[in-house]
Amino acid sequence: MYDNIKLANSNYKRRLINLNTKLTELLNIKYPIIQGAMAWISESNLVSAVANAGATGVIACGGRSLEWIKTEIRRTKELTDKPFGVNIMLMDQNKDAIVDAVCKEKVNFVTLGAGNPLPYFEKFHKAGIKTIPVVPNTKLAKRVEEAGADAVIIEGMEAGGHIGKLTTMALMTNVIPQISIPVIPAGGIVDGRGIAAAIVMGAQGVQMESRFLLADECTLHPEAKQKIIEAKDTDSVVTGYSRGHGVRGLRNTFTDKYLELEIQGASQESLNKLAVGTNRLAAIDGDTENGLVQVGQSLNPLNEINPAKAIVQDLIKEAELVLNRVKF
Ligand SMILES: Cc1cc2nc3c(=O)[nH]c(=O)nc-3n(C[C@H](O)[C@H](O)[C@H](O)COP(=O)(O)O)c2cc1C
Repeated sequence: MYDNIKLANSNYKRRLINLNTKLTELLNIKYPIIQGAMAWISESNLVSAVANAGATGVIACGGRSLEWIKTEIRRTKELTDKPFGVNIMLMDQNKDAIVDAVCKEKVNFVTLGAGNPLPYFEKFHKAGIKTIPVVPNTKLAKRVEEAGADAVIIEGMEAGGHIGKLTTMALMTNVIPQISIPVIPAGGIVDGRGIAAAIVMGAQGVQMESRFLLADECTLHPEAKQKIIEAKDTDSVVTGYSRGHGVRGLRNTFTDKYLELEIQGASQESLNKLAVGTNRLAAIDGDTENGLVQVGQSLNPLNEINPAKAIVQDLIKEAELVLNRVKF
């Protein structure tokens, strides 16, 4: 992927790039990359492969049973001795039971979204688990920092899945200067150039998802992987944006139908009914027309399926090359 940077014959003098950051220190990992949560998709195989490659991964608890979560944490520990995390969606009905189970099973960190994470910090910290909330703006970043979060993920609207209103660039510009804990941007970062850009902006690492959807170890259905490979920059759309809960995925029969009804002013209840289960339908069953292939906007570089280890190595090599040509 880094071939197009045309550095092979450049005159730049290679300097040793140090990718150790406050995030690598906090999580005790080699590279400042988090493979973020993907509901119905990220589990022990992918997470352990990413962790073994020197980055870190997150098991997605959204929609899963307690038994599944416990089993996946234990399996991941069998497959890697490296740090990894879980993501808890705080709108889940059984969130309290999940929090207790995660504290008991002991993971290195949790990412927390879709609800108020503050009441849970103490419990996680007592269990020795780092807390990393996902936020969409400066106000919430400040609030979680004041309440004792260990780091914060700022997720831009370029991301796949549920999104906020601000772009990753605007979030990095607004949030990073105002926050002392490590700030980790997510959304639209799929290559080493994106990682380098985030580091130059003052981020301590990145969270990436779309890139890891094309990992060999990722359980995403092959039909959905193929759709992502074929997709170009303008092929994602956001459903539900006008109602304040946008979800980004590839345009298809489902999104056309949803957006038509949304514009016509259909009731939220009927829209919810249409959307329920569509992530799973695409990700597990491979129905890429009636399900939603959730993926971000940076689609052009997503052209091939590779092992997680090769993806991480590519990302780091490219980030180092790009940072090498930055004149500090
Ligand atoms: C298929 C898919 C499922 C996702 N599921 C979750 C989830 O369960 N919890 C969560 O906090 N974020 C979820 N996200 C958001 C990602 O963790 C990540 O922050 C985002 O995708 C980063 O942007 P990118 O897709 O451009 O890399 C999901 C994203 C995708 C693409």
